[in-house]
Amino acid sequence: MLMRSALCTSLLIAASAAVQQPASLKQSYQGDFYVGAAMNTAEITGQDQSSDALLLRQFNSISPENALKWEVVNPKPGQYDFSLGDQYVAFGVKHHLWIVGHNLVWHNQVPAWVFRDNNGKLLPRDALLKRMKDHIFREVGRYRGKIQSWDVVNEALNEDGTLRQSLWYKIIGPDYIAKAFEYAHEADPKAQLTYNDYNLASPAKLAGVVRLVKQLRAEGVPIDCVGMQTHDHMDSPTAEETDTAIRAIAATGVKVAISEMDIDVLPSPVQGNTADVSIRAAANPKLNPWPNGLPAAMQQQLAARYAALFRVFYKDRADISRVTLWGVTNAQSWKNNWPVPGRTNYPLLFDRQGKPTPSWYAVVKVPGEAEK
Ligand code: G3I
Repeated sequence: MLMRSALCTSLLIAASAAVQQPASLKQSYQGDFYVGAAMNTAEITGQDQSSDALLLRQFNSISPENALKWEVVNPKPGQYDFSLGDQYVAFGVKHHLWIVGHNLVWHNQVPAWVFRDNNGKLLPRDALLKRMKDHIFREVGRYRGKIQSWDVVNEALNEDGTLRQSLWYKIIGPDYIAKAFEYAHEADPKAQLTYNDYNLASPAKLAGVVRLVKQLRAEGVPIDCVGMQTHDHMDSPTAEETDTAIRAIAATGVKVAISEMDIDVLPSPVQGNTADVSIRAAANPKLNPWPNGLPAAMQQQLAARYAALFRVFYKDRADISRVTLWGVTNAQSWKNNWPVPGRTNYPLLFDRQGKPTPSWYAVVKVPGEAEK
């Protein structure tokens, strides 16, 4: 009899744990913000079915890791290839996901010819503006009403908050940013339009983005959102700094997207929270300390770090439109190859087999904790 009631009690506990434990990220944050993942080529084309199934169980928004970048869709003058982009958007439409377009105007992954004439000379302002407009109209127009949110301008700021001296800036001038937003708005008036950058929780760059957004809004430029990429490390930026940045950006009147989140646990040969892909460091076993699995103590620290950041996102949920992880599982993360090639990194919420990590368990619990 005693044994039977003990069994009943443990069954009851197990059942209530099952009820209380949300089964997915999207369920956990339902009504708060979308939870997204970036898709790579194998996921977009259906070659990685298990990752697609995991994505659909856990996430309700998608971003294309590379599929919609200029060099992919328009590698040569007059040559367009939207085959991957079309599959990406079809996947999102079929599964009713919040679809993000990434990105329209950037200094990386844009072919060199874009800035030059047939003789290799840099284009004058008007010709580059026309090229930018044609590109935006073609790409945004193709997915009008299907892609809900576009990263219109990507990484236009230096770390000190001034505007980066890219060829966009040098040829067109500082108003290239306003022009890109105006063209995107014309091409799809209903799409959410985002300025997207990394390291926005650092004070100087935060001041720069706030200045930029205030100026754009004062000029009536249609900007709706700022994407904080959030390619973080274990100790930086702090949760408080992240909160300060979200609050300061939201105070300008736009939404915030946590647009490319991951947390790097490996020793860093690079200073600060940059995601500048031109930076590279040489491989060295000291920089790859855990090739066969993350030690439990480190995993616990990583889970605590994830939970601290998601507590901030949950607190600030009224201002946050989505939280997107930059990949589905650790196996596919760009962090395995940047800034050092060939490392084993652990930056996301699912391990290399697609199993939830302790960080996942910590993240799905956050809204429940707050309600207690
Ligand atoms: O497509 C080639 C393939 O043919 C070749 O065999 C292989 C060998 O290295 O390279 C492949 O290209 C790689 C490409 O990703 C597609 O996988 C490039 O080398 C690699 O540099 C490129 O990296 C991408 C990076 O942007 C480049 O800028 C990452 O996947 C992508 O995650 C990353 O995403 C950026 C965001 O767009 C903007 N914010 C920062 C973020 C992280 O860097």
